Amino acid sequence: MSRQLGVLAMYLPGRKLEELSFFRKLCVSGRKLGLEVLVFTPDDVNEDGTRIQAMTYDPEKGSWVRRSCGFPPLIYDRCRYHGVENYRKLTRFRSRYAKLRYLSRKLANKWTVHQALAEHDEILPHLPATVRYHSVKDVEDLLKSHGVIYMKPKSGTGGRGIVRLQRLQGGDAVLLQGRDPGRRIIPVQKLAVRHLPSKLAGWKLEEKYIIQQGIPLTLKDGRVHDFRMLVQKDGEGQWQVTGCAGRIGPRRSVTSNLHGGGTAIPMETLLKNRFGSEEKVASIKKKAYSLGLLVVEHLEKRFGMQCEVGIDLAVDPKGGVWLLEVNPKPSREVFSRIGQRETYRQAVARPMEFAAWLYKQKISGVTR
Ligand SMILES: Nc1ncnc2c1ncn2[C@@H]1O[C@H](COP(=O)(O)OP(=O)(O)O)[C@@H](O)[C@H]1O
Ligand SMILES: [Mg+2]
Repeated sequence: MSRQLGVLAMYLPGRKLEELSFFRKLCVSGRKLGLEVLVFTPDDVNEDGTRIQAMTYDPEKGSWVRRSCGFPPLIYDRCRYHGVENYRKLTRFRSRYAKLRYLSRKLANKWTVHQALAEHDEILPHLPATVRYHSVKDVEDLLKSHGVIYMKPKSGTGGRGIVRLQRLQGGDAVLLQGRDPGRRIIPVQKLAVRHLPSKLAGWKLEEKYIIQQGIPLTLKDGRVHDFRMLVQKDGEGQWQVTGCAGRIGPRRSVTSNLHGGGTAIPMETLLKNRFGSEEKVASIKKKAYSLGLLVVEHLEKRFGMQCEVGIDLAVDPKGGVWLLEVNPKPSREVFSRIGQRETYRQAVARPMEFAAWLYKQKISGVTR
């Protein structure tokens, strides 16, 4: 096999790879398309920087095999943030081997992405009001126009360091609850707004935080919810919504992320429970799908080629669709959790199909 796709990963403590079973599926799926999938990390580059020790899963042997090879010309980057040291290693790798092509170019942080999306007239109405945190005054101002706000780190993931503030009558005090930077639940508590900076001392609010209009997402049983949509390029280089699923946060949580204990539920089931009518459900779904496609197309214009994006969406009590966040390195387990096996299979196969398509287009012209 001559066509190679590198999967760029990162060793966690104990030389473990975070998504090994996903990588195995990528190897199997890629092979069917004539792609040799080679999993490697920046630590697997040899001393003179010309070869790598890659791993590939051999379905016939039923095991992983290591082999030494040159750099694959096309890379699927799956490195998530795991501390500054790992991050530096990855940045060094990217700049040292700048000639490699990536299925997705780098996306910016939540604030820069928000600003880029706000440029688009049809996307703007779906963005919750968002500002950067400069001082507690910004919190007070946003709370005046929106009774509930979320404070989020620009570069956070998985619901870490997210707090929700709810204005109490009189205006000086709020109910605060959320997750600390280690993702532990902060139980609901009353607080004077002016004490917020001391309450969250050490969180580097000025440097790291945005604040955002809260969308009412509490279900009848008190838990919060939202939706995760996966939008991917297909085997013809066209954007498709592969699937969309609901997520319900655990009790006492203001975030619904699966890694923070959330549960997955089919989008239709969740919407049907909330809105009752089939037509309303269909129209919300349609709105959400077209928003997803608009978003990826605009992101691609602003940040360069992308192969897939995970979009966190909220649907308010009237059926309005809001964009909460976009994820450049989305997981797809939400679909296997709800038993949508075909959607999950497609979610794994599409990046491989897109890579194979790029090879057919002679990648040099297309990916640059
Ligand atoms: N503006 C908001 N209104 C209501 N809920 C929100 C809002 N922003 C975030 N959330 C909740 O917090 C979760 C995590 O926020 P998100 O912006 O996706 O950051 P992360 O990168 O940590 O996933 C969301 O999935 C949702 O449950
Ligand atoms: Mg998210």
